[in-house]
Amino acid sequence: MSGKTVLVSGSSGLIGSEVCVYFAREGFKVHGVDNNQRAVFFGPPGDTRWNQHRLEQELPGFVHHEEDVRSRQPIQRLVAELRPSLIVHAAAQPSHDRAAAIPFDDFDTNAVGTLNLLEAARQAVPESPFVLMSTNKVYGDGPNRIPLTELETRWDYADPNFEHGIPETFSIDQSLHSLFGASKVAADVLVQEYGRYFGMPTCCLRGGCLTGPNHSGVELHGFLSYLVKCNLEDITYRVFGYLGKQVRDNIHSYDVARFIHAFAESPRCGEVYNLGGGKANSCSILEAFSLVERFSGKPQRYTYVETNRVGDHICYYSDLRKMRLHYPQWDITVPLDVTIAQIVEAWQRRIAS
Ligand SMILES: NC(=O)c1ccc[n+]([C@@H]2O[C@H](COP(=O)([O-])OP(=O)(O)OC[C@H]3O[C@@H](n4cnc5c(N)ncnc54)[C@H](O)[C@@H]3O)[C@@H](O)[C@H]2O)c1
Repeated sequence: MSGKTVLVSGSSGLIGSEVCVYFAREGFKVHGVDNNQRAVFFGPPGDTRWNQHRLEQELPGFVHHEEDVRSRQPIQRLVAELRPSLIVHAAAQPSHDRAAAIPFDDFDTNAVGTLNLLEAARQAVPESPFVLMSTNKVYGDGPNRIPLTELETRWDYADPNFEHGIPETFSIDQSLHSLFGASKVAADVLVQEYGRYFGMPTCCLRGGCLTGPNHSGVELHGFLSYLVKCNLEDITYRVFGYLGKQVRDNIHSYDVARFIHAFAESPRCGEVYNLGGGKANSCSILEAFSLVERFSGKPQRYTYVETNRVGDHICYYSDLRKMRLHYPQWDITVPLDVTIAQIVEAWQRRIAS
């Protein structure tokens, strides 16, 4: 890869900041784009300025650009000027539930913002790998049609076809997505199209639960981070339906960055990958309570709300076999208990400061 400059959108968020740190260590010049829109979406608890300042203090040469991915010309100018050798697009309106209240902001950010970056890349650096952080919500609530078994603390797939989890061949069509899922489908298909139609090295990473110590978790997004915050601050966590046995697969942001690196070293055109923790790093909400209690030493306060979130997955874990087949040097390196211990430790520090 020549030039070694990475442009990261959403650089103050969980994934963007991890990608900035990772590629700085790999010797890249790192440019971040973020306008702290998370604080607009979720209010002060969503504020990511602290993480921007952390990057500015800890990464020599890091350049923050206070731009909005919705602003076409500034984004085009920035990409043309920097000519990045890698683009990681992690800026988004990331919440399933929030999208219904802000449909235009959601679509403009997720779909149009992605088109702005893609077209800027095509004009200036069509040879540079382009990675979109997509989501498992592109599958809508389709996974909920898989027959399930109820175990003591979680749901699991009863159909042996899904023993490894949800594969990339799962239909994204004719299911309930939420407006967030729909805007992400638009972005996901655009990124595939710039790969297939224009031959650009693009991929969509359809995330399960992406997590880690640098998330600004809020009730509507960042479930493990928010759950830990509630535990430490004695806030009552609300469980929405499915008996608290709904299953998420959790991947540490470091393992996300490692996969992006593997893809950038050996890119393919218009690919999609389901990127989560897989079955080994999955847990139900009830199981997450026990894990967090083990590291915080405090009981989790929670209340049960009968009605589930609209379109919420009852059981979801990613089939990681395609990622491992295409990039055999990559695998999960951070187990779930280590991730949770890190999140507990990070919140203890942030609450104390
Ligand atoms: N965290 C998860 O569990 C998860 C799961 C699946 C997919 N994803 C996807 O991964 C990506 C990153 O997620 P995250 O958890 O790091 O989110 P995050 O909210 O922590 O980070 C996103 C960052 O983008 C910024 N941003 C939002 N709109 C912007 C705009 N218009 N212009 C510039 N910056 C803007 C925000 O201020 C924030 O700092 C998103 O695309 C999200 O949909 C996340």
